[in-house]
Order: sequence, then structure tokens, then C-alpha cells
Amino acid sequence: MFVTNLFAGLSADISPSIMQGYIILMIVLVMGGTILDMIHKKSAKYFFANAEKAKKSAKREVGGGEKVAIATSVLVKEVLTSGEFDNPRRRLSHLLTMWGTVIFIVTTVIMIFGYPTTETPTPAIIPQLWHVGALMLAVGGYWFWFAIRVDVSAEGLPWFRVERADLFILSLLATSTFALLWSYMGGGAKNVYFVLFVLSNTVLFGGVYWSKFAHMFFKPAAAFQKKITRADGSRENLPPEYDLTDPEVQRKFPDIPMYMGKNPPNMGLCIKAERAKHY
Ligand code: HEM
Repeated sequence: MFVTNLFAGLSADISPSIMQGYIILMIVLVMGGTILDMIHKKSAKYFFANAEKAKKSAKREVGGGEKVAIATSVLVKEVLTSGEFDNPRRRLSHLLTMWGTVIFIVTTVIMIFGYPTTETPTPAIIPQLWHVGALMLAVGGYWFWFAIRVDVSAEGLPWFRVERADLFILSLLATSTFALLWSYMGGGAKNVYFVLFVLSNTVLFGGVYWSKFAHMFFKPAAAFQKKITRADGSRENLPPEYDLTDPEVQRKFPDIPMYMGKNPPNMGLCIKAERAKHY
């Protein structure tokens, strides 16, 4: 079951060029949805205006080499290893969801374009990876949905409460679940799970404008810009991270030694003092 290219099996009923056209349509929908999202939220306009503003309060210029180093660190930390997540459960769930989606999409494209019919035998590893990707996405996604998302884990809301912002995660979950059920039921075009799989895929890629899909493009840009503001000293107008034991800092803020003594402890971020449980 895990070694069959289900898309080649479809080619008797659906022409490979229709399947390839569908993939291209999904790419166009993602691009269109992301552009519309940027126009609607004015996010690109705000992003560049903010970057210009930050430049004005920069304390030093960040050179080209340093920018390349920052971009590499964003790629390695924030993008490839979900390093923005402090909470290990959220990080692991995001890694499973993200890498599961990437593996699932890439292997789908390889099968539909590279091995469109049963005449060109598909190396077993590709459908195997397709199943692994779908499974990773399902495990990470259901874990997020039932236990990790803030609505459930901190706000005390029931897991079945749905709102528009959930379109992304729910369409991801539906896509992976119906893909696995379609495979389990033997594949083929005359299979109710195939219809549901195509429907949920279309919602996932067609719903970019209304969902959180585009965060995968915006978040890396935001992480890069944040690191630039730390490197050039503008810090988004935030105060520096003071060392409260520094005599210079104590001279500037005399109430620190007055109330906390000459050697105040570092109490960390207040937000981390206690887990949210006030509901
Ligand atoms: C295939 C790629 C990706 C998938 C499938 C994916 C999936 C998800 C999902 C399901 C969520 C939870 C959304 C929700 O609250 O409903 C999420 C949140 C998040 N993702 Fe991704 N993601 C991807 C790529 C990325 C990339 C490249 C980055 C960063 C560089 C990133 C950073 C984040 C962050 C920081 C959050 C938390 C957002 C928040 O709580 O507001 N993601 N992602």
C-alpha cells in the first residue's frame, strides 16, 4: 500500500495533463492569495515603511556580509528548525506539521510530473515518503489542534470551537487525513476519499487570502527584519536589555538600588513567571 504511486493509478480515469494543470492552478492560487493578502492588510507597505523608520534610528550600518550571515541564521534557526518557538511541544508539533507538509507536497509534485502513468515505474521511496509526510502532518496537526493551540491550552475553550482563523490548520488536517484514507481504501478516482482529498486541497491552496497560509512567507521576512534592528541598534524603539547590577544603569535609574539593593536578581520575563490558568 505504501509503495504505490496513487496518482499514476488515477491516469486511467484522469489525464495526467489535468492533474498537472491542477497543480499549476494551485500554485497560481497561492501566489494570488498571498498578493491579495498583502494588498488587503497593507503588510508589505507597513513592513517597508517600518524598515525605513528603523533605519533612521539605527546606531550603526549593517554591512552586506553581516546581512548574509543574518539571512543564513534566519534560514537555519527560524525557517528550517522552527527556532522561534520557545515551548518544545509547540516547536516539535510545528516541525512535524511543516516538514510533513513540505515532504507531502514535494513528493506529490514529483509523482504527478515525473511518474504520471504506470508506464514509468515510480521508485518506491517516493510514495513511501508521501505517506510519511501525510502522517507527520496529521500527527503534528492533530496534536496542535487538540492540545497545543492557545484557545484550548490556555483559554480553556473546547477543541470543537471553530473560527475563520482555523481554516489553515483544518484544511491541512483534512488534506492529510483524506489522503491517508484514500490510500488505505486502495486509491482510484471512484473513491469518496479521493473527492474529499481534492476538495480539502482546493480549500487549503485556494483559501490563502482568508487563512494563515501566507505566514510561511511573512514570518521569515519578519524574523530577518527583527534581527537587523538588533544588529543596527534601532531595536524597534524598545529599551536596551539593561543589566540591573551595572553601576551605570543604577546611576540612570536610582530607584533600582533604592528598592532592590545594589545586586538585584534577574527575575526574567514576567510572562514566563506562571503558566496561563486563569479561566
Ligand atoms: C509548510 C510550511 C509551514 C506550515 C505547514 C506551517 C504550519 C503552521 C501552523 C499550522 C501554525 C499554527 C497556526 C494557527 O495558529 O492556527 C503555525 C504557526 C506558526 N508558524 Fe508555521 N508553518 C509553516 C512554515 C513556517 C515558517 C517557514 C515559519 C518561520 C520562519 C513559521 C513560523 C510560525 C510561527 C512563528 C507560528 C506561530 C504563529 C502565532 O502563534 O501567531 N512557519 N505554522
